[in-house]
Amino acid sequence: MRSELTKAPRLVVALDFPSPQAALSLANQLDPARCRVKVGKELFCRGGPAIVEHLAGRGFAVFVDLKFHDIPNTVAGACRALADSGAWMLNVHALGGSAMVAAAREALEGVSRRPLLTAVTVLTSHDQDTLAEVGIQGSPDEAVSRLAGVAARGGADGVVCSAREAAMLRDERGGDFVLVTPGIRPAGGDSGDQKRTMTPADAIEAGADYLVVGRPITKAPDPLAALVALQAEIPTA
Ligand code: C5P
Repeated sequence: MRSELTKAPRLVVALDFPSPQAALSLANQLDPARCRVKVGKELFCRGGPAIVEHLAGRGFAVFVDLKFHDIPNTVAGACRALADSGAWMLNVHALGGSAMVAAAREALEGVSRRPLLTAVTVLTSHDQDTLAEVGIQGSPDEAVSRLAGVAARGGADGVVCSAREAAMLRDERGGDFVLVTPGIRPAGGDSGDQKRTMTPADAIEAGADYLVVGRPITKAPDPLAALVALQAEIPTA
């Protein structure tokens, strides 16, 4: 049985800013009770573990989205190191294979307040053509389904996927498998480079647990107003 309590708040604000100062100036206006935050590659490369520690210290559940993909031993060491920063969630690429995912999972055993481990299936910027370009045959759905199996075999808590695949994965993987969905756009919003987008309400309806939203908030003329509007699109029941 999935715990509704562990899912709130469901909105994860991607702090995709070029400097820690810019990220913190938005984070300082956010309430950890109302949203989680995501530190991605750009911010981590500028701010390092200190930015994660700072945000966690302010009470935020921090998803550190570095999408590790390397040999199992290297990924295990990176996950162990990242866990020390107080991350709530970290991730790897399922394309690294189940042995790599298992090494990541094992590295997190024994960590006090173990971060959730998720695996990226197919980037939400990919479609059938871009998958074919890198040699992945079949539809995005087939690739996502196969890679979610890799993640599950490796012991990941769940996957990062497009909300468009959430219903399929919820069906295939059951209620406890965590589904994190980027590519969320407000109703009527611009999709940018994301190819498989969905509105917050539709993503929740499809079975997503956590909704990652970046540019619709960070590039908005009034980021706080954009955040509040997106929160209003998330069903609370
Ligand atoms: O600005 P936007 O809402 O498109 O940002 C989505 C965020 O989610 C970005 O930080 C991106 O790196 C991340 N992400 C993604 N697709 C994945 C995994 C993470 O877009 N499969």
